[in-house]
Amino acid sequence: MNQELVLVFDFGSQFGQLIARRVREQNVFCQLVRHDITAERVKELNPKGIIFSGGPSSVYEAKAPKCDPKIFDLNIPVLGICYGMQLACHTLGGKVAPAAAREYGRATLNVTNADQLFRGYPPESTVWMSHGDQVHTMSGDFVPLASTDTCPVAAVKHTSRPVYGIQFHPEVSHTPHGGQILANFLRDVCGCRGLWKIQTFIEETVQTIRAQVGDKRVICGLSGGVDSAVCAALLVKAIGPQVACIYVDNGMMREGETDLVRHTFRDWYKADLSVVHASEHFLAALQGVTDPQEKRKIIGRVFVEIFKNEAKAIPDAHFLAQGTLYPDVIESGGSKDGPAATIKLHHNVGGLPAELGFELVEPLRDLFKDEVRRLGIELGLPEDVVWRHPFPGPGLAVRCLGEVTAEKLATLRKADTIFLDELHKAGWYRKTSQAFAVLLPVQSVGVMGDGRTYENTVAIRCVQTDDFMTADWSHLPHDLLARVSTAIINRVKGVNRVVYDISSKPPATIEWE
Ligand code: XMP
Repeated sequence: MNQELVLVFDFGSQFGQLIARRVREQNVFCQLVRHDITAERVKELNPKGIIFSGGPSSVYEAKAPKCDPKIFDLNIPVLGICYGMQLACHTLGGKVAPAAAREYGRATLNVTNADQLFRGYPPESTVWMSHGDQVHTMSGDFVPLASTDTCPVAAVKHTSRPVYGIQFHPEVSHTPHGGQILANFLRDVCGCRGLWKIQTFIEETVQTIRAQVGDKRVICGLSGGVDSAVCAALLVKAIGPQVACIYVDNGMMREGETDLVRHTFRDWYKADLSVVHASEHFLAALQGVTDPQEKRKIIGRVFVEIFKNEAKAIPDAHFLAQGTLYPDVIESGGSKDGPAATIKLHHNVGGLPAELGFELVEPLRDLFKDEVRRLGIELGLPEDVVWRHPFPGPGLAVRCLGEVTAEKLATLRKADTIFLDELHKAGWYRKTSQAFAVLLPVQSVGVMGDGRTYENTVAIRCVQTDDFMTADWSHLPHDLLARVSTAIINRVKGVNRVVYDISSKPPATIEWE
């Protein structure tokens, strides 16, 4: 699709995706690929440049991930980062050996040769190092560009090939001018013009969707979340009435969620939307069930049954749209023995089984979450939808601890709405990653007026996280917490105590069930 492609070879770095993100921030389209991709395949993809990620290995280990050495003969610019630099130098005749001491953390970089790569770069600056080996002697074909106190060869360039290496990590925020190096590499070395824009993406994707689906109909499940909303909005733009949206209200949604979906898609986009009110069906199936995983399974199963029935009723439906994002693609594509550890949080039960027999349309497969949000804004989705915190497939069922009943859900929904409203009003919603209330199966003693009460407890949870794998509790201002607590206790019948969850993940999880 996009002519300006840059490939990031994955040598097992924890920062592979971050490198891809940084490249895209320069408006250059970028994809992460396996380190052992063949030179022929690279030639077909015709990238403007290649970046070798770092990685935990040492080039001399028998199992160290290598690249096809013919890559260097393609005359495509290569930037090796950390292990990537060592591999490039090693392959092209340099000597790599263990450093005197493993270096981890901040270091001061002195640029000794302000070559293209360091154009506009401060002569002295902070960089982030994390390595055990380093390039020691170089073949006569490399020249050094920069050094640190402990690493005499912290950046190199090949004299006759467009090959560069840097021992530090330009992609992390601890290297404050790292973006400049990537920008210099992309623009000056690779000749990229920075044509990757969300608008270009929309135009190209609209064409691709039209070509893929022809005159058939596409079913698109809406969950109330950002990804499915953006996916649906893009499809509606591409093929209008050929999209049939299905939203199943399982009764576990937050306050106003169903109305927001209906208003956005039916009233605003004029999309063909079926709203299935299935709350009673789900509640009946959940009756008496207290085990969290059991609740998830039941909700997943009932959802698939209902969705299947709804989909069957749509004539000519041939495709199913899914809001799969790029991180999901990389993570699920990572083979067990691939270099990057496959880490995935997904215990998603909202997924639909392949047996439904539809062909998939996944227009967001190449995007990161923040790009999806930008795309949503560009497509005219309301900010409320685009900036929504993630919400689990089983919804409030896993925030209503123990057995789920309509009454408990109503109590929880009220408390949750009060909390989120206060967060919005205080300008904290966008500063936090996920926030919600949990109804605990705990009664405690209180006083109200002259009387003694014995009522429920609500916990409020608010976290900061980049990847939802680890999370820190949000340090919300005390006066905000006080307002939330007072409002919940005053306005939600049956609640006389509010507690704030100050556990980080790990060892706790974000959800309580
Ligand atoms: P935990 O609780 O595992 O949550 O720290 C991490 C992220 O995953 C979400 N989550 C789920 N999402 N179905 C989902 O679609 C689920 O069953 C589920 N459980 C947790 C959670 O909200 C958080 O964003």
